Amino acid sequence: MHYTKNKLLIDRINVDRIIRKFGSPTYCYSYNKLKENILKFKKNFIKINPLICFAVKSNNNKTILNEIARLGVGADVVSKGELMAALKSKINPKKIVFSGVGKTYDEINFAVKKKILLINAESKSEIETILQVAKKINKTIDIGIRLNPNVDANTIKEITTGKNSNKFGLSEKEVINLINYYKTSKYLNIRCLSVHIGSQITSHIPYLKMLKTVQKIIDKSNFNFKYIDLGGGMGINYGQNSKELNYKKYSDKINKFVKKNKVNIIFEPGRSIVGNVGYLLTKIIYIKKTSKINFIIVDAGMNDLMRPALYKAYHRIIPTKKNKRKVSKRHDFVGPICETTDKFLSLNSYQKLDEGDNIVICDVGAYGKVLSSNYNLRVGANEVLIKNSKVFRIRKKERLESII
Ligand code: LLP
Repeated sequence: MHYTKNKLLIDRINVDRIIRKFGSPTYCYSYNKLKENILKFKKNFIKINPLICFAVKSNNNKTILNEIARLGVGADVVSKGELMAALKSKINPKKIVFSGVGKTYDEINFAVKKKILLINAESKSEIETILQVAKKINKTIDIGIRLNPNVDANTIKEITTGKNSNKFGLSEKEVINLINYYKTSKYLNIRCLSVHIGSQITSHIPYLKMLKTVQKIIDKSNFNFKYIDLGGGMGINYGQNSKELNYKKYSDKINKFVKKNKVNIIFEPGRSIVGNVGYLLTKIIYIKKTSKINFIIVDAGMNDLMRPALYKAYHRIIPTKKNKRKVSKRHDFVGPICETTDKFLSLNSYQKLDEGDNIVICDVGAYGKVLSSNYNLRVGANEVLIKNSKVFRIRKKERLESII
């Protein structure tokens, strides 16, 4: 993304032109960036040669998933819907893992029929349900058990998952008990120990603590896991604080761990693969000026992008036409939704803007479109992909009539 003659281009395509052709608001994704991120991720863990299972929850667009499949990546799914989307997008079932605390009998049955790699169970009751499915079809099912290592990921409170107050996974003790209980089962094959401690993690320290607990379980249980699934959570730089995860320190530690334990590593990254791949293009409908604030009212709302309202998440906002006329007054970028939290960003100054101008909300490829809703009975934003210098619509536009 850069400016040429003060006009914003994404992968050398003029952003205003995309809006003119596809309308607004529009989620716009860059294929180049997607490919670059996947290659970078592979490079960061090159010595480990992990199985990368993309967290479909972060972006479930079928075209994006299909591009990910072509780049050799698998999927981490958390519902039958995500599993169907992954399979339809030609992701290899032998590269799919199924996570989540509430998988139903029907979902487990479906996953087993589709011969996916692993079902990562999160409770004894869930293991019992898997057992029922196995007995019904008289087959052995490969499972993983998810550990909750009680580690603080030092991220946004709402997206931490590895503390004992969180609903995810099982304690060290419980995991060991379950391994001992089920390791001789005729119907269950424990293949994996999985763990995921949270999202938008920017320090390697919590990961090292997590690895320590994983090692403890291996030592105490004396059980040979084929896979260790270390989850995702790798943070990206949203531009507010420039702290970035030290991949080298994390991967060095995993290298040693792999050498010692002779296991295969699985990762479930979402944000680090698609976060900076997506932009939300939106048009300024009105500018409402009060004595203290200029409200920049755009045609995207919190129903299109929930992260700022939900987690006070920061997303950069940039204009599609740059100028040097600075307005030193508070600017609140807001949507049309009838909620005060329908606000994307508040800044103390901004360049001069006019009604009808377009702006771009950055780094929304992960947990952007997937978290959207029809709140206020609004149709979903368009989705387009830039690939090979062309722009393609990649999700059919919702019709107002079909959601009423
Ligand atoms: N694996 C499991 C089991 C997960 O629960 C998640 C994310 C991931 C992998 C992928 O994590 P990532 O690499 O994307 O950090 N809506 C929030 C994020 C919620 C993450 C939920 N789980 C947000 O907008 O920040």
